[in-house]
Amino acid sequence: MSQPDIIITAPLPPFLYDPLKAGYRCHDYYQASHKPGLLAAEGPRIRGLVQGGGTVTPTSLLDALPKLEIISVFGVGYDGVPVDYCRSRGIKVTNTPDVLTDDVADVALALIMMTGRGFVRLNRFVHAGDWEKRGPELTTKLSGRKVGILGLGRIGKAIAERVSALGMQVSYTGRKAQDVPYRFIPDLKSLAAGVDFLVVACPGGAATKNIVDAGVLAALGKKGTLVNIARGSIIDEPALVAALEAGTIKGAGLDVFADEPHIPAPLFAMDNVVLLPHVGSATHETRQAMGDLCRANLDAWFAGKPVLTLISELA
Ligand code: 8YV
Repeated sequence: MSQPDIIITAPLPPFLYDPLKAGYRCHDYYQASHKPGLLAAEGPRIRGLVQGGGTVTPTSLLDALPKLEIISVFGVGYDGVPVDYCRSRGIKVTNTPDVLTDDVADVALALIMMTGRGFVRLNRFVHAGDWEKRGPELTTKLSGRKVGILGLGRIGKAIAERVSALGMQVSYTGRKAQDVPYRFIPDLKSLAAGVDFLVVACPGGAATKNIVDAGVLAALGKKGTLVNIARGSIIDEPALVAALEAGTIKGAGLDVFADEPHIPAPLFAMDNVVLLPHVGSATHETRQAMGDLCRANLDAWFAGKPVLTLISELA
């Protein structure tokens, strides 16, 4: 039987790409020097698409793939996929949930510890030889502090467990209250007003674009630190920069940004801000597991079996 044609729209690690090349006719759209030419020549044959979590897939691209059956996302987030459009064409969309939950939650915990306890500054202090000259600064006790989680899904819950283990108090907001031992606050601004750390863990996309806005940041206030491990689009980034410049919030720990890998220049100079290069899922073990799941979804579909992790909107 001939191998199905699939199109690759994001850079993939070799441990995913190599096995895909063995099982499929892969068309590298991401690297193609003449993308319209590739689409004109191969588009009508393509049955599968592989993309990253943050990759934006415009409907104009999908229009050029009339036989497309499945989009397999190498990531848990699929905010770049036009889900309604896919539903209207019967295109399956799969992602890689669960396998990355622990790693992403670890990064949220690390950002809380790095910002709250000043570990990044203190690390610089020792590297610079300053300990020879003076004692280190005192920072903030974390146990007993309040953490508010925006989005109590799988990752949000794993963050809640971790910070609870530190003796921090958890409240959350989201679409609805859940049967969990944490306090539900229906309104984001009220959540921000009552916490020391506001942790963003909800999906990106149109529904959450810029919901952490100037008003939410003002409510978080001088006592509050913003942590984001979800998507940069959820934060009004200029408003965040303005709040940090004015000192109206305490600090920020950010793993994701609105226009990665570009980061607003003023953030580089701020020592109350910890910046990571979108590494929530970036461990060997987890990326391998994500790759395996991404490929298993394609393999299942093209073997005529049900996919493993269809996104909830299409289930
Ligand atoms: C990855 C992510 O960086 O899972 C996601 O949604 O954003 C990250 O885990 C990305 O998907 C890799 O392509």
